[in-house]
Parts: sequence; structure tokens; C-alpha cells
Amino acid sequence: MRGRKVDKVDNVDVVDRNNPGGTGGGVSTKSTRATMSTSSTAPVLRLADVQYRYHDGTRALAGASLSVARGERVALVGPNGAGKTTLVLALAGFCVPESGVLEMFGAPVTRASLPEVRGRTGFVFQNADDQLFMPTVLEDVMFGPLKAGVPGPEARRRAESALERMEIATIAGQFPGHLSAGQKRMASLAAVLVQEPELLVLDEPTSFLDPHARRCLIERLKGLPMAQLVVTHDLEMVLELCGRVVLLSGGTVAAEGCPSGLLRDAALMEAHRLEVPHSLRG
Ligand SMILES: Nc1ncnc2c1ncn2[C@@H]1O[C@H](COP(=O)(O)OP(=O)(O)O)[C@@H](O)[C@H]1O
Ligand SMILES: [Mg+2]
Repeated sequence: MRGRKVDKVDNVDVVDRNNPGGTGGGVSTKSTRATMSTSSTAPVLRLADVQYRYHDGTRALAGASLSVARGERVALVGPNGAGKTTLVLALAGFCVPESGVLEMFGAPVTRASLPEVRGRTGFVFQNADDQLFMPTVLEDVMFGPLKAGVPGPEARRRAESALERMEIATIAGQFPGHLSAGQKRMASLAAVLVQEPELLVLDEPTSFLDPHARRCLIERLKGLPMAQLVVTHDLEMVLELCGRVVLLSGGTVAAEGCPSGLLRDAALMEAHRLEVPHSLRG
């Protein structure tokens, strides 16, 4: 995983630029060796009854359970404060569950397995500025491969290819800070796709985007083969992109199912401060 901020994970310094809030914490101290599954049947992600409380006592996850199969696109929706971002931070190892099961790629997330988990997962956080910090977009996208030891020319080739796949090759030489919100999102995506992750975790990917940039992003995501966990309030996007939706509320899963069925349930939506998307209204 790409890094800017240095976080303490079980007293091991982990350089990481994917920690948007500087949330402290780490992962289990169990010194399990990283023996993650390469089997095509194990879910890429499984949480069962996960509990997490912030230092001030706020209970953000209160028995959350969820799984994502290989290649599956799952939406995680819910009102503000439901625990969605905390769940994403738990996947990245920044929030250590107090109890419950957190497995990725068929093995528990532990201090020992965290580097592998991060290598196999692409995190795209809501604030692109947390993920882009090099002088040019190309260097930002090359950062991951270079950090992983890929020689410069090959890192550049991979980065250019990722930029082309996201259709942003023309901004390779630009300063990320001057890009539009849509370009920043695409650059952040390219910077994780260059590592060929098996799971993509996106927190509010369409926020700050205009309709055209949103459309481009959805089309790119639809064309990607890997599993995706998409945290969003954009329920029209969920209908278009995801095969399953999980409704998180109060730190626990209130409902899950097929998007066109679940999101049509007006009483359920209202009870969790959501709205039936326009395209499903009679
Ligand atoms: N750093 C933090 N310290 C204390 N409480 C927090 C922190 N971050 C989030 N929370 C609280 O945890 C709960 C879940 O928040 P969050 O995961 O951000 O929800 P969501 O992403 O669904 O809006 C909320 O009650 C929120 O106020
Ligand atoms: Mg959030």
C-alpha cells in the first residue's frame, strides 16, 4: 500500500499514505505467518461480528458481518456515522477490531499478514489529496511499483499503462494538486491499479465529481475484473455497478441483498436515513 504518513502498527513503523485521518492503531499482535489463500473459492474479504470502539468510547462497529467473493462488486451503504469508513480503516489495518473475525484472502488480518493484505488490496480514500503527493501524476502512479522494488523503466511502463487504462495518459506530467476532482480520483485509482490488486476498496468514489467525471469513473469501474467494495451514498451507481448491497447502520448490518430489491424498500430506506433512488420510483 502507498505511504506518506508513518503509523505505529504494533510498534512496527508502517509508512503509509493511505491513512486519511491519521487514525492510530494497528492489527492483532498474533504473530501468525502470512499464509493467505490463493484459492479461487475463498472470499477475498470476510468480517464476522466485528466490534470496534474509538479511544473516546464511540462504538463504531457493533457486530458487523460481511463478505465479498472473488470478482464480486459489493456496495456498502448507510447513513452518516454508520461505521462505513471505520470498516474500511479496519481492512487497512488502522483500526484493530476488539473482537470478531476479520479475514482477507482466506486468512486473518494480523501484524504478519498486513503487508500482504495491503499488497493485494487497492484502497481509494475519499480525499484524493491524501493519496497524491508527488510532483507529477506519473511519479505518483510509479510510486507503488518503485517501492515494491520494480526497476525504474518497468515501473514507468506499468504506470503509463495504468494511466492509459484510466484514460488519463494526457495528464501524466501534471502536478496532482492542480487537477480537477475527477482527474484526481482517476489518478488515485491508477495509482492503486498499477499494483494489480485483487480487491479494490473505494470510500465515496463519486463524491466531489461532476456528472461527466462520475460517468467516466463508473464506466472504468465496470470494466475492472477484480472484487470491489464500494462505500457510497450514490445509490444510482450502486444499481448500475454492484451485484449486492450491504446496508450498515449503527455499526451493524441492517440488511443486505440485491440492489434493485433492497433499495426499493421505502420503509427500510427511510428508517436508515436513505432514499429510494429515482430510477426505482414508480
Ligand atoms: N477518530 C474518531 N474518534 C472517535 N469517533 C469517531 C472517529 N471517527 C469516527 N468516529 C465515530 O464513529 C462512528 C462511525 O463513523 P464512520 O466510520 O466515519 O461512519 P461513516 O463512514 O458511515 O459515516 C460515528 O459515530 C463517528 O462519529
Ligand atoms: Mg465515511
